[in-house]
Amino acid sequence: MKKIVVAITGASGTIYGLRLLKALKANPAVQTHLIMTKWAWENLAIEHTGYTKQGVLDLADEVYNERNMGAAVASGSFLHDGMVIVPASMKTIASIATGMGDTLVGRAADVTLKERRPLLIVPRESPFNQIHLENMLKLSKMGVEIIPPIPAFYNNPQTIDDIINHNTMKLLDHLHIENQLSQRWQGINQAHQS
Ligand SMILES: Cc1cc2nc3c(=O)[nH]c(=O)nc-3n(C[C@H](O)[C@H](O)[C@H](O)COP(=O)(O)O)c2cc1C
Repeated sequence: MKKIVVAITGASGTIYGLRLLKALKANPAVQTHLIMTKWAWENLAIEHTGYTKQGVLDLADEVYNERNMGAAVASGSFLHDGMVIVPASMKTIASIATGMGDTLVGRAADVTLKERRPLLIVPRESPFNQIHLENMLKLSKMGVEIIPPIPAFYNNPQTIDDIINHNTMKLLDHLHIENQLSQRWQGINQAHQS
């Protein structure tokens, strides 16, 4: 059984986090541990994801209050197979890059780093300023995988769902969880080349 920690923060794109949880829930070999920040809950209502609060809670195996610094995921002795912050606000990224540990998301990420476990961050802001970029570079140098939700078009997405699924596929791939959520690149058919 793989244990994955999922954090959803108050950046736009709550649906990216929910889609990952949905995909993980469909996999009987995965157990999820969810932290939703206050502003993630606010955005859930603002962004018309179609999920109720209970609907979100039902997607995860365990849910932690972001103020509970005594939660299991706050300790390195809690073994897990990776943490994904999706979407990640610039505020949470700054907190992690400076080792603040001031919220449960920041603390769980700090612990993931010190234990040298996979940490995936899906940053959502545009444009990035120098502070955002420097924080992400610092984390990247420590081995954090920065996976922005930038759509691909080679798979000819027809709907927003297609775009979200493609990003979710990338996250599952980086967690080494087998999936066929989206179309993969099959190579160029030479007949189409000029
Ligand atoms: C509708 C809405 C959209 C937001 N979108 C973003 C965003 O895309 N990126 C970002 O860094 N912050 C965004 N914010 C601001 C964050 O919610 C804010 O910085 C918050 O303190 C983040 O805290 P958290 O990381 O603990 O959730 C948004 C806020 C609101 C209300």
